[in-house]
Amino acid sequence: MTANTETVNTELAGGDLVDGVVVEGVEKSFGAVKALRGITFRAAHGEVLGILGPNGAGKTTMVNVLSTLIAPDSGRAEVAGHDVVTAAADVRRSIMLTGQFAALDDALSGYENLVMFGRLMGLRKRAARARADELITEFDLTDAATRRVGTYSGGMRRRIDIACGLVVRPEVVFLDEPTTGLDPRSRQGVWDLVAGFRKHGITTLLTTQYLEEADALCDRIIVIDHGVVIAEGTADELKARTGGSYCEIVPMRTQDLDAIADALGDLLPTANREALNEDSDSLAIPAPRGAKTLAEALRRLDSAGLELVDIALRRPSLDDVFLQLTGHRAEPEGAPEELSPLDISVRRRLAAPTDGKARP
Ligand SMILES: Nc1ncnc2c1ncn2[C@@H]1O[C@H](COP(=O)(O)OP(=O)(O)O)[C@@H](O)[C@H]1O
Ligand SMILES: [Mg+2]
Repeated sequence: MTANTETVNTELAGGDLVDGVVVEGVEKSFGAVKALRGITFRAAHGEVLGILGPNGAGKTTMVNVLSTLIAPDSGRAEVAGHDVVTAAADVRRSIMLTGQFAALDDALSGYENLVMFGRLMGLRKRAARARADELITEFDLTDAATRRVGTYSGGMRRRIDIACGLVVRPEVVFLDEPTTGLDPRSRQGVWDLVAGFRKHGITTLLTTQYLEEADALCDRIIVIDHGVVIAEGTADELKARTGGSYCEIVPMRTQDLDAIADALGDLLPTANREALNEDSDSLAIPAPRGAKTLAEALRRLDSAGLELVDIALRRPSLDDVFLQLTGHRAEPEGAPEELSPLDISVRRRLAAPTDGKARP
């Protein structure tokens, strides 16, 4: 956006690899709604970056800014080394965007759509046909190639949509909730595709509300809420923030919980003990030494003659992380939520930096 940006690019081009995506202090409002309030992050070349966040967090707005569909109010963003404002056309040539809009022509077959996209991207007729043939095979659409897209199932539609975006190999791919509402088979297809992008060194930004998806697919994750980045790191780093491994103990009889707490002694932090109430049916202790902590707990409970239904070592899931950071569980898009001022203040509190304290 500024002369400064140009200088930085030249330097990068000479030495290091240009980052796939650079976002610095991007803000975007829609009237009174501040969708992005100064977002900053980077995605390295070839990295798969997950963007997690509840509904309304600003994920789609961020993707729309990066794919030049809307302009930011302030801040700067670069995709494949091109500024999204001053070099929008270069950005568009470098990217693939799929997900919440499909420019497919229902009256044409899958094959015809692919050829049409190839022609739009400037391929000659023969090259466009050859590429369409390749993609039909790669996306397992041979049976459907000659059928009108209007008759496709949701999963097939998504595949042909993604295939259209790959007619010319992009440098950066944006997938905005690509698996929301898909059946497991089609979801697996999208997962395979992302693995393919990584293999080809294509930078991929993936928004999702399925946390296991981010865990499985993404090299790094940023969590955004209310238009700002509230956490970033690998899935493991984010999980470590919630306090690391813990040991969950489920007694045979809930009335034994107090006796269990006594028997555990110093293994049970005071805060965890105080969190017990008449609704509790299990308790958790931090397990900094992993299996050793579990064995010690079991030994103490055994010698006190206390019977258990279950005792297990657990690692926090990304779900736990998300809950801790945003104050609520992830829900796939389509389940709108209204936030009361109370919800918002609770979220703020939970989003405050964690100190590695034991889980309740
Ligand atoms: N075109 C628009 N006009 C007005 N408000 C919008 C528009 N697009 C998004 N918003 C608002 O901006 C916020 C972020 O939306 P969005 O980026 O779609 O979030 P997400 O994709 O994370 O669910 C929401 O409060 C949403 O209502
Ligand atoms: Mg969205």
